[in-house]
Amino acid sequence: MNIIFLGAPGAGKGTQAENAGEKLNIPQISTGAILREAISKKTAAGQKAKKYVDNGELVPDDEVICILKDRLSAPDCTRGFILDGFPRTSKQAKYLENSGIAVDLVIDIEVPDEKIIERLSGRRVCPACGASYHTIYNPSHRGMICGRCEAMLITREDDKPEVVLHRLETYHRRTEPLKEYYGKRGILETVIGQDDVAETTGLVFSIIDNFGARSECEQSPHTARANQ
Ligand code: AP5
Repeated sequence: MNIIFLGAPGAGKGTQAENAGEKLNIPQISTGAILREAISKKTAAGQKAKKYVDNGELVPDDEVICILKDRLSAPDCTRGFILDGFPRTSKQAKYLENSGIAVDLVIDIEVPDEKIIERLSGRRVCPACGASYHTIYNPSHRGMICGRCEAMLITREDDKPEVVLHRLETYHRRTEPLKEYYGKRGILETVIGQDDVAETTGLVFSIIDNFGARSECEQSPHTARANQ
C-alpha cells in the first residue's frame, strides 16, 4: 500500500505518517528529514538545499525528485511506503504518475493556519533520532530530553515565526492545489486534524482500515461472482 500525507507545515503529517508506518509495517519517507540529515552531514545535496530549507522555500524539484528516487529504490519499499512531504508541487506529483509509481491513498490533514503557528512554536525535535514532540500536546516524558534516545531536544531553525509564515504562504500557493489533483483521481481522503494526537490517529487509521476493507472486497472471489 502506497500512501501520501498532504497538509500544511505542522499539520501533523510526520506524526501521523510515523503512526501509520508502524501500523502497516512499511517505511515512512520524509523528504524534509532526508534533507535535514543531508544538511547536517554537509553532503553536496545538503549544501545546495540548506538555503531553501532555512528560509522556508521549497527545494528545487529536480533535487528533491532525485533524493526520492534514490530512497524508493531501497529494498524496504517493495511492500509499500508512506510519503510525508512529497509531492509538494505539480511537477513532483507528475513525476510519480509518469514513473508509474502507484499511489493508493492520499490523506490530507486539515488544520487552520492559526493553529499551525501555535503548534510549530511548541514543537521540539530530537537532533539525534528525529523524534518530534510538542511542549503541550505531545511532550517528552523526560522534559527537554528525548524519551527515545536521551539526546537534548532542540527547536527547528525553520520553526521561527517569520519562517513559519513564509512556509504557510508557500504551502497555500504551491502545494494546496494537489488536493484538487488527487481529488480528481478519486483517491483523496480528508481528516480534520484534532487537538489531540491520538484522536487524529484514530481518524487516520479508520481511513486506512476502510481502504483495506474496500480493496479486499474488490479482490474477493465472492464479490467477483456476485458482480457477474
Ligand atoms: P518538512 O520537514 O516536511 O516540513 P513541513 O512540511 O513544513 O512539515 P513539518 O515537519 O513542519 O510538520 P508536520 O506536518 O510533519 O507536523 P508534525 O507531525 O511534525 O520539510 C522541511 C523543508 O524541507 C521544507 O520547508 C522544504 O524546504 C524542504 N522540503 C521537504 N520536502 C520537500 C519537497 N517535496 N519539495 C521541496 N522541498 C521540500 O507536527 C507538528 C507539531 O505539532 C509537533 O510538535 C507535533 O507534536 C504537534 N502535533 C502533531 N499532531 C498534533 C495534534 N493532532 N494535536 C496537537 N499537536 C499535534
